[in-house]
Amino acid sequence: MTKILLFGSQGQVGTELTYTLSLLGELIPVNRQVLDLTNYQQIRDIIQQIKPNIIVNATAYTAVDKAESEIELAYQINAIAPKIMAEENNKIGSKLIHISTDYVFDGKSNLPYLETDLTNPLGVYGKSKLEGEENIRKNTDNYIILRTSWVYGHYGKGNFVKTMIRLGKEREQIKVVIDQIGCPTYAQDIAIFINKIISQFGDENNIKKLYHFTNLGVCSWYDFAVNIFNQAQKLGYNLKVKEVLPILTSEYPTAAKRPAYSVLNTRKISQDLDCFPSHWQDSLNQYFMKLN
Ligand SMILES: NC(=O)c1ccc[n+]([C@@H]2O[C@H](COP(=O)([O-])OP(=O)(O)OC[C@H]3O[C@@H](n4cnc5c(N)ncnc54)[C@H](OP(=O)(O)O)[C@@H]3O)[C@@H](O)[C@H]2O)c1
Repeated sequence: MTKILLFGSQGQVGTELTYTLSLLGELIPVNRQVLDLTNYQQIRDIIQQIKPNIIVNATAYTAVDKAESEIELAYQINAIAPKIMAEENNKIGSKLIHISTDYVFDGKSNLPYLETDLTNPLGVYGKSKLEGEENIRKNTDNYIILRTSWVYGHYGKGNFVKTMIRLGKEREQIKVVIDQIGCPTYAQDIAIFINKIISQFGDENNIKKLYHFTNLGVCSWYDFAVNIFNQAQKLGYNLKVKEVLPILTSEYPTAAKRPAYSVLNTRKISQDLDCFPSHWQDSLNQYFMKLN
């Protein structure tokens, strides 16, 4: 029976994975209470003790702005912990599935980014995630890295959808950035595609793959917010918001610089798995349906 070790089992994507991965074999979910990722020896010990066939890393230091001041911690979680996982993965002959981000790009393109495009992260979060990817490539010869973007879901500590709903209940006017373009991705869809990846490649050795996976379509944070309020209103949410105003990034200064354009091209994963992701608006609809 396939043994799957899941790191980050209480995050947005990690919680969804606890449901999907358990369909594929014996799942050993690990959260922060069981293991703090800054304890590298503990990461090694748990992998050696369990000797899984597959390791899925759904952990990350995801606080993009805070990472600018907690640089060391961001690198410990996003760069060094994946390196340790990769080293142990190689020792026991398992396969490491790791999640990365669209923020490895600088956003200067105006075409969806391919897996082969040059990376150039703008902030500590993106830089530390890119170093995590590189550490995996250098330290194991059996891995799949999945870059995704603008993740929201039902679990974990918070996300853009939950923030908008909260603000929509509190304020009549909400300002949202219109000049950052990307694609929202439903955490449940990421988990479903990770299952498909495991079904396709789980038994193969020496797999070295990088995939871009997001929902389909393109939007700004402003478009995303408007869609969230429309869906919420249709479902009878008691919202105060009357006006959503588009603003520029320059009018909303943040500690971390973000790419102006970070749409990922998902053609490669669709071709290899013979399956397309849903459009982001359909997935957002599904998210609200599940809430109701
Ligand atoms: N969120 C996004 O918009 C986004 C966009 C692109 C890519 N991604 C990538 O997608 C993946 C999943 O992200 P997500 O949105 O599911 O993130 P998330 O909800 O923040 O989950 C990350 C998980 O990592 C755990 N973690 C962080 N530091 C830890 C530590 N020191 N020890 C043990 N566990 C620790 C967290 O534990 P606690 O719950 O205890 O803090 C949490 O369960 C990540 O690789 C992320 O970089 C996310």
